[in-house]
Amino acid sequence: MKNSSPPFSKQLDALKAEGAYAVLNKATKLETEGKKIIHFEIGQPDFPTPQNITSAAISALKKGLTKYNAPLGIMPLRRRIAQGLNETKNISVSENNIAVTPSGKTAIFVAMSSILEKGDEVIHPDPGFPTYRSLIDFLSCKPKPIPLLEETGFSFDMKIFKKNFSKKTKLVILNSPSNPTGGIIKLEDLEEIREMVKKTNCWVMTDEMYSKIIYDGIKYPSFYSFKSLHHQTILVDGFSKTFSMTGWRIGYLSAPASLIEKIDYFLTHTVGCTATFTQYAVLEGLNGPQNQVKKMVKEFEKRRNFVVSELNKIKGIKCQIPQGAFYVFPNIKSFKKSSKWIANYLLEEAGVALLDGTSFGKYGEGYLRISYATSMENLKEGIDRIKKGLNNL
Ligand SMILES: Cc1ncc(COP(=O)(O)O)c(C=O)c1O
Repeated sequence: MKNSSPPFSKQLDALKAEGAYAVLNKATKLETEGKKIIHFEIGQPDFPTPQNITSAAISALKKGLTKYNAPLGIMPLRRRIAQGLNETKNISVSENNIAVTPSGKTAIFVAMSSILEKGDEVIHPDPGFPTYRSLIDFLSCKPKPIPLLEETGFSFDMKIFKKNFSKKTKLVILNSPSNPTGGIIKLEDLEEIREMVKKTNCWVMTDEMYSKIIYDGIKYPSFYSFKSLHHQTILVDGFSKTFSMTGWRIGYLSAPASLIEKIDYFLTHTVGCTATFTQYAVLEGLNGPQNQVKKMVKEFEKRRNFVVSELNKIKGIKCQIPQGAFYVFPNIKSFKKSSKWIANYLLEEAGVALLDGTSFGKYGEGYLRISYATSMENLKEGIDRIKKGLNNL
């Protein structure tokens, strides 16, 4: 009698390990062997969740708010999210446009599964957040990766964008501020995309997970500010980064009410609902004082300035100053080695865990991603190690 299992779904082959997890595993193994590793691979704030948020969750639990709630989320939170979007983007959405989800990743999965069909073409940023490409493949769609250009602060290469945009394009994915580059898509590029999209039946999904982590006092341009395109646009955001809540798992999407009605059933039959007490915690996060968020962003800005200036002092590295998120994406092309090779070398020889640019797509070749969501002390030590490691090449 054979003991092998029946076959798995072929769709599963589309899913690959995410670079950050793979590097973290390898780094952890080296640590168990006694090596001291500096971690620059992890994409989560190193600050605690603000105390008022945690207290609100505890209080909700004590009140017995431990049961199912509506699949689209609790009404006060949906209303509050809509109000926040209206205030920051000068738009007019309501709770009927909002679905709360158990993470930004769930919001992305729900959004893409709700609008894509086999064979549809999807334009996406490359380098880009790896979940986009995995889901494009998982849903049997055709990826159309568009390179981001270092010289324009990692905005799209609009010439290639235009060449790839056609009647077959079913979805355009935007991510600004971006993981992995920290770059922001320029307003004129967003306007150009708007002009292309408005003549078609194509969707835009704008992932603005880093919407609150912005530097230099700028107001970043958001595709979701284009009210006239709301019938074709889905906004994805969440609280993992803003409130340092990565382990709580809560996010949301904002979309046309007609789509939200369908997403209600999608959530009903997949996750059921997002944890009730977590939603009350986020509600407090949105209504309560914002000083913790401001403090965190200020600290990130200080670290960004330090990291960029120190990296640019290393011979062979060229690093742009990103205006959002907590990543830098230095150019290491002058070393004439693949990004994977350099990242691996720095982990094994210098004890610095970071990600190679190709973990985010083929156009990430020649770059590394460094997350500066770690202490100044670690940043100083890690950059010193990188410098020594690269000088030895
Ligand atoms: C661009 C982007 N979108 C979405 C997410 C998902 O965030 P979460 O699932 O923690 O809400 C992340 C997380 O790293 C991200 O970088």
